[in-house]
Amino acid sequence: MALLQWKDRYSVGIAAVDHEHKELIALINRLYDEWKQGSSRSLVEDFFGDLYKGISAHFALEERFMRERGYDQLTAHKNDHERLLDEIRDIMDDFADEKQTTSSLAGRLEAWFSRHFEMHDARLHQRLGAHPH
Ligand SMILES: [Fe+2]
Ligand SMILES: [Fe+2]
Repeated sequence: MALLQWKDRYSVGIAAVDHEHKELIALINRLYDEWKQGSSRSLVEDFFGDLYKGISAHFALEERFMRERGYDQLTAHKNDHERLLDEIRDIMDDFADEKQTTSSLAGRLEAWFSRHFEMHDARLHQRLGAHPH
């Protein structure tokens, strides 16, 4: 069973953007599966690295797009990105310290993701359309 499920209310109304968001959710699910299966710590750390890179790259793309287009809520949107990256770094630290459990992973990520997609990304893409790839 996947950790996070895509929900229709996450949709920003643009298939290409939804596709990217689904890929981020898939990265989290892949990481969770490896971790839950008891894969080696170094393998799970590699998956964390991939997840962090994938999310950072997606955020960087959005932020460049907002800057180029003079988006009015760039700061608030970017701050929310920073919060999620902090959260993922915290989860990685807790994993390294053996304090993070798989069962609390969903709670730590899902609330953030759903809120960010529904509030920030939906507004951004309703105003400006799709960002270039
Ligand atoms: Fe996004
Ligand atoms: Fe965003």
